[in-house]
Formats: sequence, C-alpha cells, structure tokens
Amino acid sequence: MSSSSDFASLYLGLISGTSVDSIDATLIRFDDGRPEMQASLSYPWPNPIRQQILALAQGEAAFDLDAFGRLDVEIAHRFADAALKVLEQSRTPAHTVRAIGSHGQTVRHRPTGKHPFTLQLGDPSVIAERCRIDVVADFRRADLAAGGQGAPLLPALHAMLLGQQGYGRVILNLGGIANITVLTPDGGISGFDTGPANGLLDAWCLRHHGKPFDQNGDFAATGKINSRLLDALLSDEYFALPPPKSTGREYFHLHWLSSHPMLDQLKPADVQATLLELTARSVCDAITQHAPETRDVLVCGGGVHNSILMQRLRELLVPRMLCSTADYGIDPDFLEATAFAWLARQRLLGLPGNLPAVTGARGPRVLGAIYLAPDTD
Ligand SMILES: Nc1ncnc2c1ncn2[C@@H]1O[C@H](COP(=O)(O)OP(=O)(O)O)[C@@H](O)[C@H]1O
Ligand SMILES: [Mg+2]
Repeated sequence: MSSSSDFASLYLGLISGTSVDSIDATLIRFDDGRPEMQASLSYPWPNPIRQQILALAQGEAAFDLDAFGRLDVEIAHRFADAALKVLEQSRTPAHTVRAIGSHGQTVRHRPTGKHPFTLQLGDPSVIAERCRIDVVADFRRADLAAGGQGAPLLPALHAMLLGQQGYGRVILNLGGIANITVLTPDGGISGFDTGPANGLLDAWCLRHHGKPFDQNGDFAATGKINSRLLDALLSDEYFALPPPKSTGREYFHLHWLSSHPMLDQLKPADVQATLLELTARSVCDAITQHAPETRDVLVCGGGVHNSILMQRLRELLVPRMLCSTADYGIDPDFLEATAFAWLARQRLLGLPGNLPAVTGARGPRVLGAIYLAPDTD
C-alpha cells in the first residue's frame, strides 16, 4: 500500500506534440521537487484520427463544429487510454496518482494579433472520468491572457534538470516545431520556437516517399540541398523576428512550402534534403544570435533519432558540443510529457508554471485548470 507522501508525489504527464505522431505518457515521482521517471510509453495515434487532427491543425478542412466537438472527445479517450495503459503496465493503482497533467493536442496556436489564442483538444473531464484521477489541463491560456506567447513552457524544467551554474548551455527540443531553452552562465533563462523541424520533414516524406517520417534522415541523405529554395525559405519573416515568439503547424506546413514556385522543378529527395538543412540552419542561426555563450547543446524530442539532422547540427554548431539529453540521464522522448506532470504539480501547489522572460507574459502565472475525478460510484 502507498503512504500518503507517495500519493502526493506521483503525477502522470500526457502530451501529443505538433508532430502528431503519438501520445506520450509518463509516470513521474517527485523527490524533493525533482522528477524521477517511473514508467513511460508512447501510444501511436490511429491513422484516421491523426489525419483529422492534421487537417484541422493545418486548416486544410472546412471543419464543422460538430466534427470539432466529436474530435475533442475522441482525442480525450485516446489520452485516457494512454494514461490507463501506463498505469496498468507499471502496476500503479489510479488512487496513488495525485494528478494527471494533460497538455492535450494543439490544433491552432495564434499567439499574436488583436485576439491571440491557442487551442488544445482532449476534453479533460473525459480523462478524469475514465482514469478516476484529478486532471490539470489548459496550461497555456493564462499566459496568453497575461500578454505572453503561452509557449514554450519547458524552459523552467530544463533549467532545473540540466542547468549548470557558470556554464552556457542550450536545450534543443526537435519536435514538430523546434524550440530552444537558453541557459546563460549567470543563471538566466530564455527560450523560443526557432521554426519548423519534424512537422515539415514528416509531411514531405509522407507525400513523396510514402512513409510517415524520414527514418534516420535516410531519404534526405539521397538528395542535394537546393540553395535557392533554402534561401527563399530562410527569408521568411518568422526567422528574423525577435523573441518572445512561438509558432505551429498552422504556419509551417506544406502550403507554406508550396508557395515557392520552384518546388515543382525539384526532385522530392532534394526538397527533403533542403528541409533538413532549413531545420539545422534556423536552429544554428538562433543559437548563434541569441545564445552566444553556449558551450554545449543538449537535444531532446524525436529529431534526436534523425542521425543526418544531428550530424548536420553538429557540423554547423562547431565548436560547441552537441549530444542527446540521454547522455545526462534524461530520456529525450519523454521530457515534454515530464514537463506537464511538473506543471500539474505546480498548479496544485499554487506555484507559477510560466517564465515571463521566456513567454513575454506580464508576470508569473499559475497555469492550468483542475478537473476533479468523480467520487467513487
Ligand atoms: N528514427 C527516427 N529518424 C528520424 N526521425 C525520427 C525518428 N524517430 C522519431 N523521429 C521524428 O520525431 C518525430 C516525433 O518527435 P516528437 O518529439 O514526439 O515531436 P512532437 O513533440 O512534435 O510530437 C516523428 O514525427 C519523427 O519525425
Ligand atoms: Mg510526439
């Protein structure tokens, strides 16, 4: 039987990122506030739901409100499945988990303009009902309401786990979109989305190579970088914008790429190679410009498994060292899910989850809303 202190320290983090590849679930025990991973799993999206999410997130389908509402509930059921599966596999009774932190699935992120908003689906009430665990969700909107970007939310945890006093370091998350956390030698923390990463690589690979992602970067490796296309893509105004900034799939998707007329004349493999170079160059430019004191770059997110991309980053970032967070004992595939377990705990403790220096919010904010588990019936 678990003691009451166990109950207070076990949290479950759930997220599906902009790659829309899978729901990542991780069970975390907090020991003196530091997360220790107890169990984790990735629950791949069934293809029909993935297609619906992508169509919605990329604005490809005229979505009616009924379909939208149904998708919100269906996503929640799959999130609950992932949570229940990780509990079952680790033989963890639901009542020993203090709360689930569920990020949901982002389907739109528009952090600028007159009425900035961000939208994550996966009805938290459904997850609380199915799992019988309190759920904390809706982590981004309080930051947006306070004038922030609502993203990225990982830097505080990155600093706690990987910061080293007197040492300049960047944590690079290669998800659908790439983001960096900049840790300066004097303890400063900043961070922002640098631009596209796996989202575009996956989409082009699926369309022209018939595979949902470019395993190891093998497809890109068969092509040649087209410098005209690369320069045209890099001239997008997003890359030159000063932080705070964040972006998503509604901006960097295949339509964005297709707006370049020369695309039709290029071999698909050359475009893949150019997109890989675009990711590497935009990340490297961001680090050179905004993190000049960086001595090493620690990579997490699925892109860490793309050996061609990692190799290219390594070359561009010389003399800085590049490695996986795994080399520091942190599983690169579950750091984001861990962050949402941490954010749920922050919410229950009444502590802020955002860093105003990162998101641009007016001040620190307690993030997320609590959806209580039903009483036993
Ligand atoms: N072996 C691999 N080779 C190349 N890319 C990979 C590999 N494994 C994972 N990926 C990439 O990582 C992506 C998932 O990364 P993830 O960190 O989950 O992103 P997100 O947080 O946006 O969901 C996949 O869509 C794929 O592009
Ligand atoms: Mg993912």
